[in-house]
Amino acid sequence: MRHFLTLKDFSAKEIKEIVGLAIKIKKDLKNGKRESLLHGKTLAMIFEKNSTRTRVSFEAGIYQLGGIGLFLSNRDLQLGRGEDMKDTARVISRMVDMVVIRTDSHMRLEEFAEFSHVPVINGLSDSYHPTQLLADYLTMIECKKDKNPIVAYIGDGNNIAHSWLMLAAKMGFELRIATPSGYEPNISIYEDALEIAEESGAKIILSNDPKEAIKDATVVTTDTWTSMGQEEQKEQRLMDFKGFCIDTALFSKADPEAIFLHCLPAYRGQEVSDRVLEGERSAVFLEAENRLHIQKGIMVWLDQKRN
Ligand code: CP
Ligand code: NVA
Repeated sequence: MRHFLTLKDFSAKEIKEIVGLAIKIKKDLKNGKRESLLHGKTLAMIFEKNSTRTRVSFEAGIYQLGGIGLFLSNRDLQLGRGEDMKDTARVISRMVDMVVIRTDSHMRLEEFAEFSHVPVINGLSDSYHPTQLLADYLTMIECKKDKNPIVAYIGDGNNIAHSWLMLAAKMGFELRIATPSGYEPNISIYEDALEIAEESGAKIILSNDPKEAIKDATVVTTDTWTSMGQEEQKEQRLMDFKGFCIDTALFSKADPEAIFLHCLPAYRGQEVSDRVLEGERSAVFLEAENRLHIQKGIMVWLDQKRN
């Protein structure tokens, strides 16, 4: 049995297998064919934080595959009143076929997975957001940006940046991350990525200079400067991230054919300007739609590994 907690646990071949499944499922859906690949299966969806895309894509995805989704918020579960993660895991995983969890601490997620009898999917933790990055990779493939890309991530060294580090390291491409000083990615995740990159040939560059990072990039991306749970730091962050907004002037330094990606939700005028987000090279809504197709690929792949 496999879990889906971070791309670090997956080989390039396995990542391609999951994305391949998503591409097939998406094509079938567009042709009006909905195969009940998870007929009668139940997905528990534990969300300790807000979500639009992750929640809707998993819930719609499991229904479209012939299964049922149980949305369980922190307000409803005893987890919200302090029940242990390991007890919750042993109870819920005796009743359902798969679990997706959105939580703050990655360790809580790992604890749940350790005690779970069924596959567990990371729906976002403070360390990683791997389902998002597979949707981003699928979007790069569809936009023909997956061959020798130069990806520039300009912004906070957060869970999305960490997931880009893992994707680049595994798939062997060039990733440049530019953050303000003091907002760099977690050092141990960065070092893990460098170690993986030695084998795959990925080129990973960290800097504090957005103009240098974006130069000739073929994929430009960012994320909110203030992640969920950091709201009280917002004012300070708005000051510290000055000069890191991907506006038309900065975007013009990328490759003329570069695409813009953003996991969303976006905050216009902060990490990205309205013109770039709404511009013709922005693929953000295709990227958001691809969450649906990739979640289905992940669930089907994990289910196959159990059989
Ligand atoms: N990108 C993403 O995960 O969005 P949600 O927080 O809306 O799920
Ligand atoms: N870094 C953001 C991603 C939201 C999808 C957060 O953790 O809030």
